[in-house]
Amino acid sequence: MSVASVTPADLTIVPRDRRFGRDEQTPRWWHGGDPVATALYNALSSIFPVGEAFFIDSVRAFRDGVDERLAEDIRNFTTQEVVHSREHLAFNRRATDAGYDLSAIEQKVKDRLALTKKKPKIVSLAATMCLEHFTAILAHELLADPRHLAGADEATADLWRWHATEEIEHKGVAYDTWMHATKDWTRWKRWSVKARVMLLITRNFVIDRTAGALDLLRQDGITGPKAVARLLWFMWVKPGMMRKIGGAWLSFFLPGFHPWNDDDRHLIAAYDAGVQDAPDTSRQVRRAQKAA
Ligand SMILES: [Fe+2]
Ligand SMILES: [Fe+2]
Repeated sequence: MSVASVTPADLTIVPRDRRFGRDEQTPRWWHGGDPVATALYNALSSIFPVGEAFFIDSVRAFRDGVDERLAEDIRNFTTQEVVHSREHLAFNRRATDAGYDLSAIEQKVKDRLALTKKKPKIVSLAATMCLEHFTAILAHELLADPRHLAGADEATADLWRWHATEEIEHKGVAYDTWMHATKDWTRWKRWSVKARVMLLITRNFVIDRTAGALDLLRQDGITGPKAVARLLWFMWVKPGMMRKIGGAWLSFFLPGFHPWNDDDRHLIAAYDAGVQDAPDTSRQVRRAQKAA
């Protein structure tokens, strides 16, 4: 039995094998000289290598019996996530070189995933499917509103935009795999499991990223209620990424949800057009172009 998907028939997932900031020293506060913005993005980057390896394993565990289209999408999804991990590992090394200790954040995500891995594999797929939706709506918001990366170091902003683009492009893969894996479930069972997992994932995501960013701020000597207030302001008020994804997050719980109900391929096209306009994206070349 095949499973209906609303992933666009003409969507092609194209891994863009790019490298960012390899020969550069990323400033410690690369995000507009702002320790708070830097801390939140660094906390997020710290979890990607471990998290993305988990996503790949979780999806591939259910690839048997999928149709050729989804099989191909899973292969391209895997390639994209592997390259994301490579680039975020390199970025995390630069954050470490800039003086941050990311080990506590990395350990926390390993502990969280270890608990999930002890459960049946379908739980890992459900968690991946939820986290991929979460990632895709963050990615959409990041690309749709340039204020989120305003003032950021250019090579690093490029890394985030590239990653966001590919997260949008493969946002249906874990969901379609989940639909395939649960094709014999009742609609109610499917919905109740995915809703419960999403609520748990969201709770953990918000708590862990907040704690991770506070850990990094502590390393900058920013502590106490002021650190918490500044971080919460950045996350929820201005630019308020968490608040702005609220509607897209809620859509997950509606009947007939699919990540591609929101066809935001224009953001992918815009990114690709930008890259074509500037084939050499190194910071030095951009500076030289600006100065000319
Ligand atoms: Fe990724
Ligand atoms: Fe992803």
